[in-house]
Amino acid sequence: MENPAINVKPAQQNTHYALRTTPPKLAVLISGSGSNLQAIIDAVQTGLLQARIAVVVSNRKAAFGLERAEQAGIPTRYHPLKPYRDAGKERADYDADLAALLAEFTPDWVVLAGWMHIFSDAFLQHYPQRIVNLHPALPGQFPGAHAIDDALAAFQQGEVDHTGVMVHLVPDERVDEGPVLATRVVPIRPGDTHDTLAARIHAVEHDLLVTTLAQLVANQQSQDKQLQKNTELHR
Ligand code: GRF
Repeated sequence: MENPAINVKPAQQNTHYALRTTPPKLAVLISGSGSNLQAIIDAVQTGLLQARIAVVVSNRKAAFGLERAEQAGIPTRYHPLKPYRDAGKERADYDADLAALLAEFTPDWVVLAGWMHIFSDAFLQHYPQRIVNLHPALPGQFPGAHAIDDALAAFQQGEVDHTGVMVHLVPDERVDEGPVLATRVVPIRPGDTHDTLAARIHAVEHDLLVTTLAQLVANQQSQDKQLQKNTELHR
């Protein structure tokens, strides 16, 4: 069945979206290893994902994902929160500066691939329906940074026999909630440890994130083409 959330409306007032001739641009935000970023890089390189990664941003300097991006020749930016905290600044200041940093790259989509900060409206307002988050649990289950361990603990208590992965839009400040674009169930097996379950979840994440993004950008491009046709007709 078609997922209505995936038919995201183009920002019609914005000519940047309407008059595009190049592939949609992604900004990928990371905080760690960047294995999901790598899946996106690979999918762009093989043509499975018809998009361009315009920039990779990390809030952690040591994030291995930054190296992955550099290896692939993608511009990177490091945007840490600590200096803002130390200066007594608000989260909104950090977010506004992040939005300004991204603006230079005019991304169509902001992809949170393991980004560990929550956004305030100072960031969200710049990308309505254009922020995509990946979370290693199913909708409504195990939000937050410890989703894999929480699922494993629930399994050990006999409360669940599976967990999953979801990709969703980020419309507001809620954590790991928002219009769901795609989900996939991941079984939990007796004897699973954090590492075995995490490995199974990550493999699913890499596939689900890439296929969902591919669908989003394909829909966007056909909507853009239609919009362009309509504009030409009315000239
Ligand atoms: C993923 O499990 C993602 O769902 C979560 O953080 C992890 C990032 O992994 N939000 P990686 O950095 O992409 O390897």
